Amino acid sequence: MGQHDGKQKFSGSLNSAMIDGPEGVAAQEYANNFGAPGYDDISRIYITQRYEGYSAENQESWRTLYDRQMSYLESHASDVYLTGARSIRLVRDHIPHLDGPESINIYLKKLTGWQSCGVPGYLPAKAFFACLARREFPTTVVLRPKESLDYLPEPDVFHDIFGHVPLHADPIFADFLQTYGKAASTTNDPFHIERLARLFWFTVEFGLIREGGRVKLYGSGLISSPGESRHALDSPDVERRPFDMETVCSTSFEIDHFQPILFVLESFDQLREAMNSYAQRILNSPATAHVEG
Ligand SMILES: [Fe+2]
Repeated sequence: MGQHDGKQKFSGSLNSAMIDGPEGVAAQEYANNFGAPGYDDISRIYITQRYEGYSAENQESWRTLYDRQMSYLESHASDVYLTGARSIRLVRDHIPHLDGPESINIYLKKLTGWQSCGVPGYLPAKAFFACLARREFPTTVVLRPKESLDYLPEPDVFHDIFGHVPLHADPIFADFLQTYGKAASTTNDPFHIERLARLFWFTVEFGLIREGGRVKLYGSGLISSPGESRHALDSPDVERRPFDMETVCSTSFEIDHFQPILFVLESFDQLREAMNSYAQRILNSPATAHVEG
């Protein structure tokens, strides 16, 4: 899940039977109203992952997606991502479980306290930020259809778990993402909201990092996309700029084609420190209204 502004709820082409029951409908309605009077319990936007709803074709699609991306990532993704993927026991054999004895959440909880929590679909920004502030990652449970393995505009369980969740096993990234959520759910200033959306885009979704003298992938939009990952590292059309908080927050992005500008971190500590400073700035801003979370 990300700040995919303007995106709609999943269409029927996804395995929507998993999310269209009363639980999914009620959770989506609560999320849409989150922040209004009487809608302040973020846990009510979560749904159970009705695992039996995955078809054999879904499981096969997961294996296909995993296979064609993981072998590439072994030499092109950040070590922090790869270590995280091993730590949460991400495997090719089946779509990960969010509940029960095989859950990735059992490992995440011990490592950083983060949890991956099922949601029915697109979340308004305020609800999304409120989840992050609690170390809870809103996780789409449905998987893209077999005929759209290459590209899906919305997040799905592959983008969200394979792409995002391994980094949540890293203590430094875990701190960064929670601080991001606290800052973003605290401010009502459109200036900061826009800048924070850019920060999310250029780090969590499309970030690069230098490790051992080489530029590696960590952003979920790169990690989960065969096309975009290779383009990000190899294309001469991509401008790879050094990460700088002010520059990132001032750079606009477009969502419907490969990214022409990417930012390269030197370390996740750099990101955490920059976020801590920015969060302090937001908390001291006169436009800030405190929101429980
Ligand atoms: Fe995402």
